[in-house]
Amino acid sequence: MEKRAATFIILGGTGDLATKKLIPSIYALFERGELDDFDLVATSRKEMTDQDYVSLIEGNVEKEERWEEFCSNLHFVRLNFYEPGDYARLAKVLRGCGRRKLFYLATLPGHFQAITTNLASHDLVTDSDKVIYEKPFGDDLNSARELNETISRVFPEERIYRIDHYLDKELVENITVLRFANSIVEPIWCSKYIDHVQIIASEDFGVEGRGEFYDRYGAIRDFFQSHILQLLALTTMKKPDEFNAECIRDEKVSALSKVRVLDTITGQYRGYLEEDEVEQGSSTETLAAIKLKLDDPRWRGVPIFTLFGKNLAKKYAQVYVQFKPAAERFLNDRIEPGPNSLVVSIQPDKGIYFTLNTKVPGEMRTTESKMNFCYTCHHGPNTPRAYENLLVQAIGGHQRSFVRSDEIEQQWKIVGGIERQRPFIYEKGQIPGCVRDFIGKRKWHDL
Ligand code: BG6
Repeated sequence: MEKRAATFIILGGTGDLATKKLIPSIYALFERGELDDFDLVATSRKEMTDQDYVSLIEGNVEKEERWEEFCSNLHFVRLNFYEPGDYARLAKVLRGCGRRKLFYLATLPGHFQAITTNLASHDLVTDSDKVIYEKPFGDDLNSARELNETISRVFPEERIYRIDHYLDKELVENITVLRFANSIVEPIWCSKYIDHVQIIASEDFGVEGRGEFYDRYGAIRDFFQSHILQLLALTTMKKPDEFNAECIRDEKVSALSKVRVLDTITGQYRGYLEEDEVEQGSSTETLAAIKLKLDDPRWRGVPIFTLFGKNLAKKYAQVYVQFKPAAERFLNDRIEPGPNSLVVSIQPDKGIYFTLNTKVPGEMRTTESKMNFCYTCHHGPNTPRAYENLLVQAIGGHQRSFVRSDEIEQQWKIVGGIERQRPFIYEKGQIPGCVRDFIGKRKWHDL
């Protein structure tokens, strides 16, 4: 097997993402022997030594046998993204690191262009190096296009990895398998049988110290643009010609190009304005419900309801597909069997279940029964953590869990079509009445 080796350069090395997720993931891979050889260079505007950097991150990892060895490969470089001289300092440190470089831009997207251009103009990029961009990629369609254009002058598309960590969740990857590896599912995946689809991602916490970032982006650009639209694309795309990254992404782009926004409501939790670094009187939304449709004969008349937000009653994410009820009334004329549904539960419970109507023992009426696939019961809880897996994929050159340039642009096009009013205020932990009513006579699943 080819050795797994890389020199990681993390731009934005003292931020939450780097210190809480990336470094612990790289360490976990190293400790488990899944990373043969590496150097890690973290950069930030702050002045600190390598040892200061170790002190900054050590509270976020569970130290094991190879911790000291891991730390001996860590380097810190002070770097202001806009200061050309600082890149020369970075180049000096990198001269001692012989492996392929993997740049990780864990910064706000506003810095992506400047960093990429500076890396290139200081000859820091060779033609075997790769780059990972955190989400959000751009602020809107124009900025995403401009960004795609700039970075394509430095890296070819096959060496660009745009992150959406949802794509690496086991149950998200399972949507494609569920649909296309089961001959009974695909034939009923159309408007003849499906009544509507819900995509829900509810969180029971607020902005958690990310006030500055969140206030600029809000729920629609932070969550909908990427995670919800990826779930939507995987749920509605046609069968790819082959199950490789390119064909799957072709079909996702095609599905996204048919999405139309029908209706939107937005809310803001009470207390949001008191969060650190949130602007006075901000009208940023922390919740949104968006009704969509697909301009495609297969999905004609099937509404897609999405709901996502912070400080709601509980944390869960799922795709819920409700089928049309059976036309026939069985057993007893007065009782109408409920509709069947299929749920892909992404988190916290991982699994897939179908509801079927069965007969109540000893009685002539139907009841709903769950046919349940519990992921953890079947495969155990120890699946790789999202960022570990994404790093492994990027090192290995696998693009399946990353977002292509045209996919990003389609996503921003959809976001551009959303019309917003000023958000209503909702109480933390409660589901506002207008959110319940948004879906009409139907009911949100599990809310
Ligand atoms: C991030 C968003 O992309 O995803 C956050 O910026 C959100 O606002 C997070 O909380 C949710 O991801 P997960 O995997 O923790 O549910």
